[in-house]
Amino acid sequence: MTEQMKTGITELDEILNGGIPKGSSILLSGSCGTGKTILAEQFLFYGAKEYDEIGIYISLSEPRDKIIANLEPFKFYDPKLIEDDKIKILDITQDARLINLEPLTVSGIINMVSSIIRDSGAQRVTLDSITAICNSLESERNIREFIFELGLQLGYLDCTTIFISEVPPMKFQYSVYGVEEFIADGVILLMEHEDKGDLIRTLQVVKMRGVNHSRNKQILQITENGIVLKPMFEL
Ligand SMILES: Nc1ncnc2c1ncn2[C@@H]1O[C@H](COP(=O)(O)OP(=O)(O)OP(=O)(O)O)[C@@H](O)[C@H]1O
Ligand SMILES: [Mg+2]
Repeated sequence: MTEQMKTGITELDEILNGGIPKGSSILLSGSCGTGKTILAEQFLFYGAKEYDEIGIYISLSEPRDKIIANLEPFKFYDPKLIEDDKIKILDITQDARLINLEPLTVSGIINMVSSIIRDSGAQRVTLDSITAICNSLESERNIREFIFELGLQLGYLDCTTIFISEVPPMKFQYSVYGVEEFIADGVILLMEHEDKGDLIRTLQVVKMRGVNHSRNKQILQITENGIVLKPMFEL
């Protein structure tokens, strides 16, 4: 039996019968504003606080200062963990290693991301988002090669990864390129649901290899304590 890693989102850990399998790569898909970044950050901060695990958040879409400012209202956010280097927040769009990677090649990006993860010694990793990397690769062929190679390399690294994919709103779609879900060991889908003019957020665990989990749709609420889930339909 593979050891499982608690995400820190109580109800999600219950749905997963203990958490995400250690060493796996999880695709977290959702449209804008569905809570992807907050979920991934909560996973990192929980690991650092409760288990002294190093977490690294690799951003490809938002600057570091903005990411930190958005974290401040949440109780799980602890600036001391960043000061102590337990949580590293990296905006790699500003990283000289990426800027010098001209032209951007699949192997160049993969090597860079792998070495950042390896050097950080992180047990928990978040890549926010792979869609942003894919947008900078020119052809569909390169994008597919990048996604397959990423899955392969993450499998060799000694960490558990949540990689984020931005999908269009109101569509039952796991990924942009239709291949991300196959390389991932698990897929968590965040969606929105319109109800009387209000947009309700939902979460569904679509797959989690090696885990007997529920596929029940959950209503997702963002509170100052982080993400809270409750079943959308009582069974
Ligand atoms: N302090 C807060 N309390 C409650 N809800 C919040 C708070 N801060 C942000 N939110 C809600 O969370 C949403 C953003 O969540 P998050 O950044 O995780 O979404 P995302 O899926 O990563 O979006 P994007 O695709 O734009 O990156 C905001 O649109 C807002 O509705
Ligand atoms: Mg985000």
